[in-house]
Amino acid sequence: MAQQVRGVVARSKGAPVSIETIVVPDPGPGEAVVAVQACGVCHTDLHYREGGINDAFPFLLGHEAAGIVESVGEGVTGVAPGDFVILNWRAVCGTCRSCRRGRPWYCFNTFNATQKMTLLGGTELSPALGIGAFADKTLVHSGQCTKVDPAAPATAAGLLGCGVMAGIGAAINTGNVGRGDSVAVFGCGGVGDAAIAGSYLAGAHTIVAVDIDDRKLAIAKQFGATHTVNSKDHDPVEYIRSVTGGNGADVCIEAIGNPTVYRQAFEARDLAGTVVLVGVPRPDMTIELPFLDVFGRGGQLKSSWYGDCLPSRDFPMLIGLYLEGRLDLDRFVSETIALDDVEEAFHKMERGEVLRSVVVL
Ligand code: APR
Ligand code: ZN
Ligand code: ZN
Repeated sequence: MAQQVRGVVARSKGAPVSIETIVVPDPGPGEAVVAVQACGVCHTDLHYREGGINDAFPFLLGHEAAGIVESVGEGVTGVAPGDFVILNWRAVCGTCRSCRRGRPWYCFNTFNATQKMTLLGGTELSPALGIGAFADKTLVHSGQCTKVDPAAPATAAGLLGCGVMAGIGAAINTGNVGRGDSVAVFGCGGVGDAAIAGSYLAGAHTIVAVDIDDRKLAIAKQFGATHTVNSKDHDPVEYIRSVTGGNGADVCIEAIGNPTVYRQAFEARDLAGTVVLVGVPRPDMTIELPFLDVFGRGGQLKSSWYGDCLPSRDFPMLIGLYLEGRLDLDRFVSETIALDDVEEAFHKMERGEVLRSVVVL
């Protein structure tokens, strides 16, 4: 029978979010209902509320979550009731042109639940990134549930569902950071710090953190930055060259989505190096680059969607590293909050006060 639970809903563009009773149907074929235990507050939730993603209001927000599978629909074999799972927004299809070429991390046809969750009156909700996990329970496609070791607390595990995976993956999957590499990370929020942690894990030698906020630079060091530079006071390109033998970094990761900073990342890169863009630009932004340098410097300019992750491969592996004490996911959790506190958490995020506020249910 369909269940009624609490959920955080954005009803109209720019309006504060509200807690609403939502209706969660029983899982249909291929679907699962998950009892959410923790869900991080991500910028993308705020973008949805501001109408920056699309106009399909009302949105059920939240998408960076972990919980327990409560029930599964017909034909589901990958997960079962009782499993501890991280929710992902890349349930790969296995049959699109990218999957068939052996690149499922780019899957162009990812799965979401077919049925809709609704408000009490029957209005259909648009779940953020096909998840909608600021709710006691949510309905997803079973492929969006990745089973991981239940020894990990949900507050830490859920972070891998979006921002932290994006940052770690930008370094290890997209940037291919390896032993002895020099890396520069521009923007040390949750995503940038995760890129720093990923680079550290991968064996990078020099890791330069760039930010305009000294508080963020201090935290970046805790994740493994070997050098920091405040780009308000110093030219980050010159600084990065100065600590890399005059050459620039092998991998420059832009974790803001700012054209000026992207240009800095482009210029701070060594010959044949890689620039990774993981920050999400706004639709009105454009970049201008010296075309001869785009050619002449060689290397790669890459974008990183969701850290080019493959949830079934990366989530259990990273949870394993967490449980071995080699990846400090807890450090990303600035505070745990209740479902009622999401609106206030957006403001803290805007003021740069938190890496991640995590709703605990
Ligand atoms: N130069 C250097 N650092 C900057 C600049 C700038 N011009 N502008 C902002 N920053 C820093 C901020 O001080 C902050 O520490 O970038 C960091 C951004 O962090 P958050 O706002 O916490 O964002 P985060 O959650 O890390 O996400 C970063 O990735 O997934 C996307 O949508 C997300 O585009 C966003 C980006
Ligand atoms: Zn596919
Ligand atoms: Zn997100």
